[in-house]
Amino acid sequence: MIFRQLFDSVSSTYSYVLASRRGGEALIVDPVLDKVDRYLKLMEELDLRLVKAVDTHLHADHITGLGALRDRTHCVTIMGEQSKVDVVSMRIADGDRLTIEGLSLDALYTPGHTDDSYCFLCGDRIFTGDTLLIRGTGRTDFQNGDSRAQWESLQRLLRLPDETLVFPGHDYKGDTVSTIAEEKRFNPRLKARDAEEYSTLMASLNLPNPKMMDVAVPANMHQGLHQEEVARRGWAFTAEEAKSLVGRADIALIDLREKSERERKGAIPSSLHAPYADLIDNIEDGGLIHELAATGKTIVFYCAFGERSAMAVQAAQDKGMTSCRHIEGGMAAWARAGGETR
Ligand SMILES: [Fe+2]
Repeated sequence: MIFRQLFDSVSSTYSYVLASRRGGEALIVDPVLDKVDRYLKLMEELDLRLVKAVDTHLHADHITGLGALRDRTHCVTIMGEQSKVDVVSMRIADGDRLTIEGLSLDALYTPGHTDDSYCFLCGDRIFTGDTLLIRGTGRTDFQNGDSRAQWESLQRLLRLPDETLVFPGHDYKGDTVSTIAEEKRFNPRLKARDAEEYSTLMASLNLPNPKMMDVAVPANMHQGLHQEEVARRGWAFTAEEAKSLVGRADIALIDLREKSERERKGAIPSSLHAPYADLIDNIEDGGLIHELAATGKTIVFYCAFGERSAMAVQAAQDKGMTSCRHIEGGMAAWARAGGETR
């Protein structure tokens, strides 16, 4: 496994790059906007291709690199389904598995620091965001934080094998990694007897708000692509318009989501499945979608929220496939419009 822990000294944030090898697909956890150039340089040096960028929660102390990484690499941006961020390309729920080539991360919904906090377990290590820190825990006094919920989330983490490596979202003292056993023994916050005592402890902290909070939270809330731009160019159907496309012989509806998303939310009848991860191959000369377009069919991409499909339309148009369109707002809009699923 290729594994890098990167540090932003301004916000004391750790970001993590994970990859296995072969095609060089990589994933990043909690990227910081100011460090995006550094991440991309590293990808280039290690010959990696960023395919997914994940935030453990809505950050209040730094601006996320999710939007910039998406714009520069066309990676899929991911957060939990509870997140209020306007649009990310994929949303995950507790128990979901995030995969890239050769690696998978199990998503654990761990509310408490915020109501959209997740931890990600990858083999012998867990990325704990701001739920569990080294000898500390994330504050619970804003962003719908809830100390009792966090106590329950922490108990869940403490049930992991003792030797599990703990990689936090921040450290302010220079520590880089711990283990579950170490935190059980030495983390003062975990000495509380129960949720009640923990809640009293957390309520007594009286922490100042993070310096960046007023800037970071609003900036992080708006990560969506400007799908209006794609619509303005005439490359979009609204979900309502798209209803009349189902079953038409001159239309090929292409679902760009992953298998797990299709299983959970259903798919548009008569659509074909061609995951976003394979898009570049599929729109190349001789690729599946390229060949389909060559038969004269109008290609209509869709995904969960219209983000991946908007990027796909742009990529296909760049390849000269001028008949490509997408469904604005994706399956979420389709469901709101009362579209049929199978
Ligand atoms: Fe945080």
